[in-house]
Amino acid sequence: MSGEDIDGKAVAATIRGELKERVSSLRSPPGLAVILVGSRRDSQTYVRMKKKACEEVGIQSFGFDYPDTVTEDELLQKIAELNSDDKVHGILVQLPLPKHINEDSIIEAVHPTKDVDGLHPRNNAALCSTGTHVGAEKVDWADLSSVPFHIPCTPQGCIELLDRSGVELKGKNAVVIGRSNLVGLPVAMLLMHRDATVTIVHSKTTDAPGVVGRADVVVAAVGRAEMVKKEWIKEGAVVIDVGINSVDDASAKRGYRLVGDVDYAGCKEVASKITPVPGGVGPMTIAMLLRNTVNSCVRSGA
Ligand code: GUN
Repeated sequence: MSGEDIDGKAVAATIRGELKERVSSLRSPPGLAVILVGSRRDSQTYVRMKKKACEEVGIQSFGFDYPDTVTEDELLQKIAELNSDDKVHGILVQLPLPKHINEDSIIEAVHPTKDVDGLHPRNNAALCSTGTHVGAEKVDWADLSSVPFHIPCTPQGCIELLDRSGVELKGKNAVVIGRSNLVGLPVAMLLMHRDATVTIVHSKTTDAPGVVGRADVVVAAVGRAEMVKKEWIKEGAVVIDVGINSVDDASAKRGYRLVGDVDYAGCKEVASKITPVPGGVGPMTIAMLLRNTVNSCVRSGA
């Protein structure tokens, strides 16, 4: 078997088109504030891509760049200001932050309704509830674009990719590799809300290949280049690769190339569907950020 590629680039472009149409019917544009601290090359690249995507769909982006030396108080003050700014419907603080800043304090300072990254404890609690309501509002897990709180972007992008590729999750064995707050845990919750039977594999799992080998759907989010091998994957499984790792390659244009957490070429031979890196989950993360921002604007009544 040679697995079919799940084309995240194309799906994300379709979603941006849908959002552009929704934005054009709004009275005033949605606004996203993007806070960048320091000079990490990867963070700068992500922020640039996020702002460009905003522009494409008609979201106003407001950039706030700070040096590594910024204090936690300065950031908290800016966030408080943005929380009460009616033109701003989403606030994104690019992570990671320098060590002297408490990331949790920053995440908790963003008002939950503007937390388009979906990381605030209030949004996390809603995601981790098996209840059917958040306050008075009903939660429909079948349509993540409609839930009345913010879901983290990369996990939401994974589910959206599976949905738009016609992958059924109900009753399936799903294995998530990685247990981060940003991806592993939330994507496991989403898979469970879709009635998959979910197992999380992490650094202390005794037989990771054996566990992954029983999966109908594998989501790899560990941040280790090409860790998941062909031999781990059950024939016909669907493989979603969240990793973006740069590995040295003297023959590549920039001296490095980007690879996922999955050995793509090998796993493609046994999977039924697989996401490439780049061009799989990456573009979906940004599309979901835009969707969260548009939803936030609509919910604010603008
Ligand atoms: N750094 C890596 N991924 C993310 C993300 O999804 N959101 C933010 N804010 N920072 C990140």
